[in-house]
Amino acid sequence: MESTWVNQAIDKIEADFQRSADTHLIKLDIPCLTSVDIYLKDESTHPTGSLKHRLARSLFLYGLCNGWINQDTPIIESSSGSTAVSEAYFARLLGLPFIAVMPKTTAKRKIEQIEFYGGRCHFVDHSCQIYAESQRLADELSGHYMDQFTYAERATDWRGNNNIANSIFEQMQREPFPIPTWIVMSPGTGGTSATIGRYIRYQRETTKLCAVDPENSVFFDYYHSRDPKLTCENGSKIEGIGRPRVEPSFIPGVVDHMVKIEDAASIATIYWLEQLIGRKAGPSTGTNLYGALQLATQMQDANQQGSIVTLLCDGGERYLDTYYDAQWVEHNIGDISQYQQKLTEFNQTGRLD
Ligand SMILES: Cc1ncc(COP(=O)(O)O)c(C=O)c1O
Repeated sequence: MESTWVNQAIDKIEADFQRSADTHLIKLDIPCLTSVDIYLKDESTHPTGSLKHRLARSLFLYGLCNGWINQDTPIIESSSGSTAVSEAYFARLLGLPFIAVMPKTTAKRKIEQIEFYGGRCHFVDHSCQIYAESQRLADELSGHYMDQFTYAERATDWRGNNNIANSIFEQMQREPFPIPTWIVMSPGTGGTSATIGRYIRYQRETTKLCAVDPENSVFFDYYHSRDPKLTCENGSKIEGIGRPRVEPSFIPGVVDHMVKIEDAASIATIYWLEQLIGRKAGPSTGTNLYGALQLATQMQDANQQGSIVTLLCDGGERYLDTYYDAQWVEHNIGDISQYQQKLTEFNQTGRLD
């Protein structure tokens, strides 16, 4: 009986995948960059609005194939929001109860979306409490704790099989510089950067992976010190990325270069991007893109031509009352005018100093 249900569950996820199209790779039109092309892989167009749609699909398949998820198994996840939205979608597809354990500061729109898909939100005061609380709930309900922070890197098939890295390299094939000089990604679990970094190595590409970390996150320091016990007091203010502890899915060995991006720069960059493409993106896209623009400047300084690919992780509509609210930004992020000025100058000079 159980195996029939599991087979049907896998069928449903595979059929959902079969119905979906790949996400677009947007080429940015940036006149001041004369020798470097920048591309955004637009992950906001998944049915649940973010790159986490891929991860949720992989985590459910991993749990089903490992015998961890059966008929009626409650699914519990610790999440800053996007993963929970996507997992709630798949839980509903399979008819399973879903509970997201999240910081109480999570964007209202994400909470509404989780509830829209029939999920329940369980709040904690501080982002570092989500892990223990998720495990506690799973034990209490005889449920399965998905634990994206541990399993993201291994649930995805990094060798190919239509993963995000495979898709980027295929979509770049007809571009002037088809092999990106850099791919830039900001880690949350670290799963996406692990998939991209491993794929690059496996395919023996020359592309380098740059990881970008926001303030209030330990990944950058861990990359340099390799001390897995690092923690930081405050949670990241850039939703979806940056963590207060070293997550098991962040694999530093596949990262070639790492930089820290100020939160004010990330927010200024999503406003700059809106002017460029007429669309709002989430704050982690700002972190990614600011890192990409810095690398473009360095490439132009070194008379290097090439391409840089980064991710539009989710759309900005989820954040109208936070990152797109000037008062909220001033109160929570601070003054971003210095970076707005830098980006205005960049438009004229092609240099981000
Ligand atoms: C909006 C957003 N951007 C980026 C990331 C980071 O992706 P990953 O968890 O694969 O490192 C996340 C992860 O939650 C996210 O929600």
